[in-house]
Amino acid sequence: MLEGTSSFWYNGRYLKEKRIDMTQIIDGKALAAKLQGQLAEKTARLKEETALVPGLVVILVGDNPASQVYVRNKERSALAAGFRSEVVRVPDTITQAELLDLVAKYNQDPAWHGILVQLPLPKHIDEEAVLLAIDPEKDVDGFHPLNMGRLWSGHPVMIPSTPAGIMEMFHAYGIDLEGKNAVVIGRSNIVGKPMAQLLLAKNATVTLTHSRTHNLAKVAAKADILVVAIGRAKFVTPDFVKPGAVVIDVGMNRDENGKLCGDVDYEAVAPLASHITPVPGGVGPMTITMLMEQTYQAALRTLDRKFSK
Ligand code: GUN
Repeated sequence: MLEGTSSFWYNGRYLKEKRIDMTQIIDGKALAAKLQGQLAEKTARLKEETALVPGLVVILVGDNPASQVYVRNKERSALAAGFRSEVVRVPDTITQAELLDLVAKYNQDPAWHGILVQLPLPKHIDEEAVLLAIDPEKDVDGFHPLNMGRLWSGHPVMIPSTPAGIMEMFHAYGIDLEGKNAVVIGRSNIVGKPMAQLLLAKNATVTLTHSRTHNLAKVAAKADILVVAIGRAKFVTPDFVKPGAVVIDVGMNRDENGKLCGDVDYEAVAPLASHITPVPGGVGPMTITMLMEQTYQAALRTLDRKFSK
């Protein structure tokens, strides 16, 4: 990595910073495509050798446009991997009891190794009750409290796909986490909390921050590894970033012109970072691929159970 000292204007302020002359863009799209290819090969071999075909069912309640896109992409990816795939679309008038019955049906059916209920759910449905109802061995999202507890106690089985994909990126790009200062912005169950735990498991020193953290920019600027999942367009500006930091952007927002953008002001921050993920084409594609990998692994574990009986 080459560093040079230079000064630049940002938002009317004159910043004198070390800028990184060679920022590496982490190409999540290419990495996901490579892993997806390997997964299709593994799946074909598994089918040939054991007749087992991993099955993923996605339950979509209502017609949230973003959820529809995500679910379509998951279905496409499952089919491309050679999985059995089903999307169950139900109206948002479904009652909680009906939704729980639906989950119970797929829990009991051995043809399905992964069950995912797309979030968010309509307000009249208790999200926690639904996540709790999914068989933990089929919970490919890793959102069931048992799987969250397994992760926090250092014995993960199902890992939420977004942080799992980020860990794959660190591995693929040779980013060492040992002893590094890692700052995670955002404390959701889906990204921030499991991300913090995965970084900790790799011996990073982790600070989990959020919208109420005092002096957030100052805290973030201590990070060697900065993971941003706060859900606000271009929230992270150069004053949050230590020169040479690895910047991972989980955000998916629209800017003032309706253009897709992340939680990081990419144009302004990229010159400071040693590595950065773009939006789109960064974390997003990895999330879906990791979901497929979790489904494959869940299917494999059913074989282990069958032969150990
Ligand atoms: N909604 C947004 N992201 C996710 C996800 O990773 N899993 C589920 N089930 N719903 C989501």
